[in-house]
Amino acid sequence: MALRTVMERLDRDMQAVTGAISKEEWALVAELAPKLAKHAEPPLSEKMRILTWLGTDAGKFRGFDGQVQNAATGMEDAAKRGDGQAVIAAFSRTQQGCLACHQSFRQSFVEQFYGSR
Ligand code: HEC
Repeated sequence: MALRTVMERLDRDMQAVTGAISKEEWALVAELAPKLAKHAEPPLSEKMRILTWLGTDAGKFRGFDGQVQNAATGMEDAAKRGDGQAVIAAFSRTQQGCLACHQSFRQSFVEQFYGSR
């Protein structure tokens, strides 16, 4: 599934943000955060498959994506202000969005589309 490539990219960008925070490179954080907020999406055909599978849970799934988007946008704003504490708070909210979606959907997604755990 193309979603996995999207996720691997998010993973790398999150790690890059961690490195930038450690060095207080706020300009780099401000550059990386939009990659998290406006990440790539799977092609339309895959999106349709995922949405069909999600059914009534589609809103919940999208809500977690929205949480990541909002938090990453907040992180960008905080980084532009050079406000390290706010960057870290927003980083934490971003990761909470990742975790929440994974806890709700990841295992069943893998079972559904790859037929294993
Ligand atoms: C809206 C739901 C959702 C959000 C938000 C989300 N993920 Fe995921 N993520 C998934 C699903 C579903 C999978 C399983 C995809 C698969 O195995 O093909 C996954 C899998 C992954 C994987 C494992 C990929 C692999 O190679 O097995 C990583 C790493 C990952 N996500 C990182 C992130 C990071 C980092 C964030 C936040 C910045 C994030 N994800 C936010 C739904 C989400």
